Amino acid sequence: MSLHIVPTTPFPGQRPGTSGLRKPVSVFQQPHYLENFIQSIFDVLEGSAGQTLVVGGDGRYYNREAIQILLKMAAANGIGRVLVGQGGILSTPAVSCLIRKYGAYGGLIFSASHNPGGPQGDFGIKYNIGNGGPAPEKVTEAIYARTQQIREYRILEAPDVDLDRLGEQRLGSLTVSVIDPVADYLSLMQRLFDFEAIRDYLASGIRIAFDAMHAVTGPYARAIFQGSLGAPEGSVLNGQPLPDFGGGHPDPNLVHARSLVELLFREDGPDFGAASDGDGDRNLILGRQFYVTPSDSLAVLAANAQLVPGYRQGLSGIARSMPTSQAADRVAAKLGIPCYETPTGWKFFGNLLDAGKVTLCGEESFGTGSHHIREKDGLWAILFWLNILAARRQPVRQIVEEHWRTYGRNVYSRHDYEGLPVEVAEALMADLRRSLPGWVGQRLGSHTVAYADDFSYTDPVDGSTTSHQGIRIGFEEGSRIIYRLSGTGTYGATLRVYLERLELDPARHGLDPQVALAEQIQLADHLAQIRARTGRQQPDVIT
Ligand code: G1P
Ligand code: ZN
Repeated sequence: MSLHIVPTTPFPGQRPGTSGLRKPVSVFQQPHYLENFIQSIFDVLEGSAGQTLVVGGDGRYYNREAIQILLKMAAANGIGRVLVGQGGILSTPAVSCLIRKYGAYGGLIFSASHNPGGPQGDFGIKYNIGNGGPAPEKVTEAIYARTQQIREYRILEAPDVDLDRLGEQRLGSLTVSVIDPVADYLSLMQRLFDFEAIRDYLASGIRIAFDAMHAVTGPYARAIFQGSLGAPEGSVLNGQPLPDFGGGHPDPNLVHARSLVELLFREDGPDFGAASDGDGDRNLILGRQFYVTPSDSLAVLAANAQLVPGYRQGLSGIARSMPTSQAADRVAAKLGIPCYETPTGWKFFGNLLDAGKVTLCGEESFGTGSHHIREKDGLWAILFWLNILAARRQPVRQIVEEHWRTYGRNVYSRHDYEGLPVEVAEALMADLRRSLPGWVGQRLGSHTVAYADDFSYTDPVDGSTTSHQGIRIGFEEGSRIIYRLSGTGTYGATLRVYLERLELDPARHGLDPQVALAEQIQLADHLAQIRARTGRQQPDVIT
């Protein structure tokens, strides 16, 4: 084994986005590309010598190769120990759990989340800090700055580590511990939820279906649902992680989890359905012939938290990302606890959770979580739902409809326009931003504009400010139209339009959201001239 110091030159564009550095596999496969980024991480980590890192990925194409490179570079950069999931597998929430449990210095997750995998798909890398959460912007910006100056990287020339053999191996001065990816995560879930009650509930003839989408949650879901909770074999669908996710798009929404949705919408379908994404941090919740929006899901979890052992002592507060509907705000108001509005991306919840200001947090993009770790957590959300169902013994639909009757329904939808030319999308946003001041107080259709701004956020814990986080147009009766550009795409630009309206009349709660939001949908197009500027007649994805 020998230490190599390899000369290199910077690559442009190694700036981490909403959730780490994400690029097509072919970009990551360029000589030195991954190495430059990893060395830049090591260069900005102070005091990491001799420390422990947690490492794993979602099993996508290039996962094993990337982990071998990381291990050899960790050895050459003086890291003391790496905990790596067997087979290179660790879900994002499991990494967060392990960092916290073992007091690790940080962790690296190889994933492009819900983006497709395979040689033609995407790859990605995220760095998490010692609290278990995504690196905050000052760290990711420092990493990016370093990528622009890098001249060399350090790597140990050594044979590959056997990632399939549990136990310890040496790589120079580095100890590599190959660990069971599921065990520690499962024991955390057992502390939070009433597994016995859920087991009894499932044994009473309730049928569940969980779609792992051939991504990382397969092994976790088999151990939890079919192992610990006694659900019959076959309850976990697509449970084998595959490098190309079986050719699918591992994003648990109504479009990409279509086969699960179709199963749940059959008259004789299962009582409860759920799915998670590539790296296991997102969740989709379905009842029989019923879809729960992620914004409603957060609100329902908050309103029922006292039924769940890990949350029985009450919630300190709730946080939601700005585009997430205000359903959770209404629950928080009733509970008499604060509700924080943060920019898009899980990293903005970290300080609030660390400071004990919030217990639950969520995003409209199928992300829900709590103070148990510092990432959103797909299987956690699903277990939370199962625990509520086991306690209430009512169908999902009934629980949500009752919730609407109590709090009103925040009718909600997101429209995505994908793969737009970057100049077109940026010009649309720039013109929209310029026109904002003129709208306040104006009547648009049947609505009067109460505020129109470009969202900026001051973190209540460290005072840091983040601006340009999306254009908000708020109406006097609480409706909103929000526009922002995706920070996770790898091709062109994606425009997201978020639509929300509060409906207090129970007679109208059953309306299709696209119908209930028709006026806002039209207004959103009118204000931003989406169709005219993009030539698109409708969104690519509606959730
Ligand atoms: C998307 C979601 C956002 C989420 C992120 C990572 O980011 O909108 O809520 O935190 O993926 O899963 P976007 O592409 O909108 O920047
Ligand atoms: Zn994800």
